[in-house]
Amino acid sequence: MGNVLVLDHPLIQHKLTHIRDVGTGTKEFRELVDEVAGLMAFEITRDLPLEEVTIQTPVAEARMKVIAGKKLGLVPILRAGLGMVDGILKLIPAAKVGHVGLYRDPETLLPVEYYVKLPSDVEERDFIVIDPMLATGGSAAAAITSLKSRGAKSIKLMCLVAAPEGIELIHKDHPEVDIYLAALDEKLNDHGYIVPGLGDAGDRLFGTK
Ligand code: URA
Repeated sequence: MGNVLVLDHPLIQHKLTHIRDVGTGTKEFRELVDEVAGLMAFEITRDLPLEEVTIQTPVAEARMKVIAGKKLGLVPILRAGLGMVDGILKLIPAAKVGHVGLYRDPETLLPVEYYVKLPSDVEERDFIVIDPMLATGGSAAAAITSLKSRGAKSIKLMCLVAAPEGIELIHKDHPEVDIYLAALDEKLNDHGYIVPGLGDAGDRLFGTK
């Protein structure tokens, strides 16, 4: 079963509290999400393999470590996932960015894919799927299925806040996927919002309502 890692670094928790606060406006919300995404990326990339290279310092020749040419791919789920991309790219500027767009069919309530664009070398990349709010988990599970059907072999899921229901669905549909969170909240309410959550992440990021 994939791991669930709650990244409880004090900086992440402090910023997340301000993100949650209903009094935080769009500009600050966007900046904080960007910062938290970067801090989370720091942890998510902890297992990147290193290799040794020879360099010349001003004093001596030395064998030192660099990241071993690992190919990463970020896949934000539209639209709220976009809010976390830049913060990660600041740390991993060479990562390629794919996009997955899904909507919920009003009759079946199931996610339907309306847009997918991924880097061409899907099979060689390690992907981080980005879904800030893992509520029922339906969109994230469908996005991961979509990546796998196109040949992706290595996928992690990154969320800001999750509900237990979402974690359960990912475990069921994609038991090998590790899930990285800033917080695991209590439950979903009758409208599908995470409680206490932070409201609608897309609306708060983009100032829509
Ligand atoms: N999507 C959101 O943006 N917020 C929630 O609480 C649940 C799903």
